[in-house]
Amino acid sequence: MLIKVEKLTKSYAGQTVFSDLNLEMTKGEIMSLVGPSGCGKTTFLRCIAGLSFSTSGSIYVNDVNITNSKADERPVVLMFQQPLLFPHLTILENVTYGLKYGKNKSKKQERIERGLAILEKVELAALSGRYPNQLSGGQQQRVALARALILNPDLLLLDEPFSSLDPSLRSSIRSWVRDFLKKEGVTALFVTHDREEAMMMGDRIAVMKEGIFQQIGSPKDVYQQPKSPQVAEMFSEGLVMEGFFLSPDHLTLRPKTSLKAADTEAFDATVEYKILKYGHTFYHVYVHALEQRVVVLSNHEFLDGEQVELCYKRISLQTYNKNHPVDEGKSSKKLSR
Ligand SMILES: Nc1ncnc2c1ncn2[C@@H]1O[C@H](COP(=O)(O)OP(=O)(O)OP(=O)(O)O)[C@@H](O)[C@H]1O
Ligand SMILES: [Mg+2]
Repeated sequence: MLIKVEKLTKSYAGQTVFSDLNLEMTKGEIMSLVGPSGCGKTTFLRCIAGLSFSTSGSIYVNDVNITNSKADERPVVLMFQQPLLFPHLTILENVTYGLKYGKNKSKKQERIERGLAILEKVELAALSGRYPNQLSGGQQQRVALARALILNPDLLLLDEPFSSLDPSLRSSIRSWVRDFLKKEGVTALFVTHDREEAMMMGDRIAVMKEGIFQQIGSPKDVYQQPKSPQVAEMFSEGLVMEGFFLSPDHLTLRPKTSLKAADTEAFDATVEYKILKYGHTFYHVYVHALEQRVVVLSNHEFLDGEQVELCYKRISLQTYNKNHPVDEGKSSKKLSR
């Protein structure tokens, strides 16, 4: 295991942020970490980076216990939401700054060579003499990535690195970064608020809520077989019910007047609006009984505000996957609340 986190607990002044978290990642793996605001994602990364110390539990990187090591002694680099580049230093000077001091200290010529080599990799060598304010937001993020990777960390932690970028730039840079990390074999733990980004970036996804990992699994597992209503609410695009879950591909819309088939159940719903996507019409509908919104593909024409029935076959009701095989979090105790 490249990283192994065991029973990590963090409290501030007696207030528990998270407790008994377990996590393992293999070398080269990218893990997305998602969860609602304030659930402890940043705190978890800070504990792994050594910017904050856990209250109890252990952290191992390559079988070395780093739980009590100082931040600059850990083979871990944390990359923040904002690139935080030094405005008065050139791109090359920014990238090589971490090679001037501490355990990575190296001579000037070597710094320049390594800096240019890593800028070449992030496709910014031609801009090495510029200052940060002469770069676009996406280029600045790539500089921040180069500055982190020049330290050759065993583990890269990224805390919502793309959230300050506008949506189109964000989607292009995230696929670029994923390809880059995979090509370089970097192990990365990546925090995001964005469900789509989590699925696109992560080989696996860890869903954090209420101070525990609710589920850790592949994007497909988390999406199609949520382990709890909490995971389904955050990840699935279907309907979340107590004890059951309906995945969106099992839902159909029909006008309210139709006759009922024996094997089919329906919820009353209201069409809110439709959107055209990938050549199909998707209806956003509100399901009154569940107070939930869901998006359903349909070939029928419905009007905004129309009362409809949202149908599903009884057989397609799924129970939550409580015995999820890849789960590493402590969950069952708290989930029953
Ligand atoms: N230094 C601190 N002292 C006391 N409480 C703190 C401190 N830092 C964070 N907290 C609390 O710990 C909890 C988790 O915060 P954290 O920043 O880890 O959340 P997050 O999941 O990263 O949220 P977001 O998605 O908004 O970034 C919050 O309730 C926060 O108020
Ligand atoms: Mg945060």
